Amino acid sequence: MLDDKTISDLHKAFAGSPNGFLVVDQGQPSFAVLPYQTYQTLRQAQGMPKKKIKKVLVTGGAGYIGSHTVKLLLDEGFEVVVFDNLSTGRREAVGDTELVMGDLADRTALDKVFKKNKFDAVIHFAASIEVEESVADPAKYYQNNVVNGLNLLDAMAQNGVSKIVFSSSAAVYGEPDKTPIHEDSSCNPTNPYGETKLAFEKILKWYAGAYGISSVSLRYFNAAGALGEEGLGYDKSLRHTHLIPRVLDAALGKTAEIEVFGKDYKTPDGTCVRDYIHVLDLASAHIASLHKLEKDSGAHVYNVGTGKGYSVLEIIDAAVEVTGRMIPMKFADRRPGDPAKIFADSSKLQKELGWKPEHDLKSIIQSSWEWQKSS
Ligand SMILES: NC(=O)c1ccc[n+]([C@@H]2O[C@H](COP(=O)([O-])OP(=O)(O)OC[C@H]3O[C@@H](n4cnc5c(N)ncnc54)[C@H](O)[C@@H]3O)[C@@H](O)[C@H]2O)c1
Repeated sequence: MLDDKTISDLHKAFAGSPNGFLVVDQGQPSFAVLPYQTYQTLRQAQGMPKKKIKKVLVTGGAGYIGSHTVKLLLDEGFEVVVFDNLSTGRREAVGDTELVMGDLADRTALDKVFKKNKFDAVIHFAASIEVEESVADPAKYYQNNVVNGLNLLDAMAQNGVSKIVFSSSAAVYGEPDKTPIHEDSSCNPTNPYGETKLAFEKILKWYAGAYGISSVSLRYFNAAGALGEEGLGYDKSLRHTHLIPRVLDAALGKTAEIEVFGKDYKTPDGTCVRDYIHVLDLASAHIASLHKLEKDSGAHVYNVGTGKGYSVLEIIDAAVEVTGRMIPMKFADRRPGDPAKIFADSSKLQKELGWKPEHDLKSIIQSSWEWQKSS
């Protein structure tokens, strides 16, 4: 039975809403089907208890960042199902967690996993992630990162799941107009990878208003580090494109030297400056995001970085110190589209979600080194 306040709130909500319907019995509203957003607004207005997130679908949970986040989710008591096609993920990284082998392009497989489980939220890591490849083959990136992502959102909407944390990237900014980069900085991606991440953020913004899908988009800066003692880290069998694994390959003698692209940037030592964030700090930002979605609807965007930038030469120096090895290097030409300096202002995430990074550069390189030299 609806009380007087609810009835009056319903009338107001319907006056401003074109969707949903109200069943009236003897002149009184008795039953309402509401657009999700309206329902959420009403719940909040009435101070009704918020729904706790317990069970989470993690797409791309067998990948590098996904697998570390799954570990943390389980430690924090969440139930987890991983959905992954293992195109770049590792079966071993999932351990005993339930793994559904499937592709986001396969709507039937997605519906099946949503019907079988009652998820409270989705964390969406699955994507194609190589910048250079995205320039050579943009279709692959639009297909996987946008079209397949839409498949996921549609499956969520149809199965009543309304919360998603999305892996976005600092690549949405392109060449930044100033550093540190704030969330309000202009977004001008310089490659298809960054374009697809920005496109999906925009989709999430519109889906919040239209379909009540609430989201947190996390713009990661450079993910690094590992949790080797748990068998978790980046895929060592892949050709490394990220700086720290490449530096450590040179320390191990797997490559003859590390190439440093450009030495005449406007930075203190002339080499590019980036913000390296430990993968476990990234993982904890996802837990904080789930808690945000328990309280607030809408589409939210946060930078996830440390706020401190290190140059390529500083990374090599730190790696020499950690490994105790000589690391041969040589300078090469600048790579097209490589901005001089990228580091985050992550104060919004710190203030609003109470998150803060726990790991410094030494811990990032030390944990990467342990992982990379293990067989
Ligand atoms: N690694 C970084 O520094 C970095 C920086 C910014 C943003 N990101 C974003 O973080 C997310 C995770 O990155 P990562 O470094 O862990 O990459 P990763 O390649 O290790 O993980 C991606 C996972 O998604 C799976 N996958 C890809 N396409 C799929 C599909 N169509 N269906 C099902 N599974 C699919 C892969 O098998 C893999 O397990 C990505 O969205 C990436 O764009 C990463």
